[in-house]
Order: sequence, then structure tokens, then C-alpha cells
Amino acid sequence: MTNEVLELLMHRNATVTEEALKGYYTEDEDLQALLNSERYSLFAGGKRIRPFLTMEFCRLFGGEDEAAVPFACAVEMIHTYSLIHDDLPCMDDDEMRRGKPTNHRVFGEATALLAGDALLTGAFEAAASNTAAGAEISAKAVAYLANCAGRYGMIGGQIMDLAGEERKLSLDELLKLHSLKTGALINAACVLGALAAGVSFTDPCMNDVVTYAESIGLAFQIVDDILDRTGDSKLLGKNVGSDESNQKTTLLSFYTVEEARFYAEKLTRDAVLALKKYPDSDALCSLAEWLASRDR
Ligand code: IPE
Ligand code: IPE
Ligand code: MG
Ligand code: MG
Ligand code: MG
Repeated sequence: MTNEVLELLMHRNATVTEEALKGYYTEDEDLQALLNSERYSLFAGGKRIRPFLTMEFCRLFGGEDEAAVPFACAVEMIHTYSLIHDDLPCMDDDEMRRGKPTNHRVFGEATALLAGDALLTGAFEAAASNTAAGAEISAKAVAYLANCAGRYGMIGGQIMDLAGEERKLSLDELLKLHSLKTGALINAACVLGALAAGVSFTDPCMNDVVTYAESIGLAFQIVDDILDRTGDSKLLGKNVGSDESNQKTTLLSFYTVEEARFYAEKLTRDAVLALKKYPDSDALCSLAEWLASRDR
């Protein structure tokens, strides 16, 4: 698939997700500050990579979009909450996100904190209410998503990330950190797509889903670390140099930019290899390659 065709598909999947995300909001005058703060970050743009993964994995295994979309929305809500909290002064203290001032700079820290809380809770409401997938699949998806987002997943990664500001982590610790803080939610996005199509955890093809997810998950954070050093803040929509100013341990604490790129490319080949045997895997394979060479 050419980059033009892939980007068109990314745009289409993002539009479907955004339309569905809007459906979770109804106006309430008394809650305007909260709702505006949530929607400010949720609809600020963003590449919508995770919803793309959920939708394309569902399609790969012959599922209906209808069953994937609520899971895609849930993952994107959790991702957006994680960005709002990640940018807070007590975390990475960043000023720009998705091309706009960070949530707390516009709405204040307390509202930003609550917007994140509401997005996190709303995500589970959306996933649990996925009637198209059915109650049994939804229950499994909710448990899996909670595990990936929680203490043994993304939050565990964020606490290790903070530890990496205080002391230089070992490479093994850093790889664990990356697989938790970024890999876990990407993993959930992929697995929930497969679940939506009726694939079960014991099905051998779930191993291929997880191999792909773990490979692109690590590659994704490696590229994020590279872009924080070498990227263009206008394209990225966030300030560069954040890791250095917070004295974070990143992959570039161990490798040169060229070596880190090489590593991400190797992981991308692993990801493609895991899915190549499936007839309709072109979109997911092309996405893996797009992610490794992205500039935003
Ligand atoms: C940024 O994620 C945070 C990380 C996990 C590295 P994305 O690069 O997917 O951010 P958006 O959604 O496009 O804004
Ligand atoms: C964030 O990692 C991972 C999250 C769980 C949000 P980063 O702190 O590197 O993400 P950016 O660079 O701010 O987007
Ligand atoms: Mg961070
Ligand atoms: Mg950050
Ligand atoms: Mg970063």
C-alpha cells in the first residue's frame, strides 16, 4: 500500500472514530468546564493510531466495524487522558500538545486532572456498552484494557519513567518501561480489535497479534524518543527537548540516533513478518512501516 493510500485510510478511520466519540457527549450547562476541557484534547487532532489498529485488526479477522468502533473510542479516550496527565507540571510539565497549548494551561490543573479522570472512566463505560460485540466479548475486552492501562501496564510505565529522571536506568529497565508506558496500550488496541472480530485468547493467531503489537509498540516509543531530540515541533504539535530538560533516561541514553533508528526498523520488520501470512494485512504492515519513518 502506498503512503497516499494508507494516509487516506488513516483519515477515514479517524473520521469514523471521531464521529463515534462525539456521540458519547451530551450537553450539560453545569458541566461545561469539564466537557469543554475533555473535548479540547480529544478533538485536537492526534494521529489516531490506536483506533486505526483496533479497526484494522477487527477487519483483518473478518469482523464488523460496528463491533470495533466502541473499543477504538475507549482506547483513544484512555490515550488522550494519559496525554493530559503526562503534560501536567507534576509530570513532564509540557506546554504544547496536538498543536495547541496543553490542557492545564487553558483550563487549569484541577480541571485538566478531572478531564483526564472523566476520559478514563468514560472509556470503560464505552467498552462495556459495546452491544455490537456482545456482553461476553465486552467483558473480556474491559478486563484486558484495564490491565494494559493500569498498574502493570501504562501507569506502571509512567512511574518507571519518573524513576528514570532520578537515576539512569539500565537498558533492561528502560525496555520494560517502554513496553509498559507505550506498548501496553498499543497492545490493547490491537488485541481489542481481534476480540471484536471474535478471535479468542487461545486462538494461535492471537500470538501474531501480540508479536506485531509488541514490536510496533517499542518501535513507536523509540521513534518518539528520537523525535523529541531531532523532530520539528510544528509537525509534532508538541515541544521538542522535553526529555532532555526533564533529564529522562531514553533510548538515546544508550544509542545514537542512527542506532536507535536501526533498532526501530528491525522491530518493524518483526511486526510485518508476524502478519504477512494474512491475506488482508496490507494496511497493518504499511502502518508499521509508516510509523518507523514518521516525522509527527
Ligand atoms: C504520544 O502518542 C505519546 C506516546 C505514547 C509516545 P501519539 O504520538 O500517538 O500522540 P497523538 O495521539 O498523535 O497526539
Ligand atoms: C508518554 O510518553 C507516554 C504516556 C503514557 C502518555 P512521553 O512523555 O514520551 O510522551 P510525549 O513525548 O510527551 O508525547
Ligand atoms: Mg512522559
Ligand atoms: Mg511527555
Ligand atoms: Mg516523548
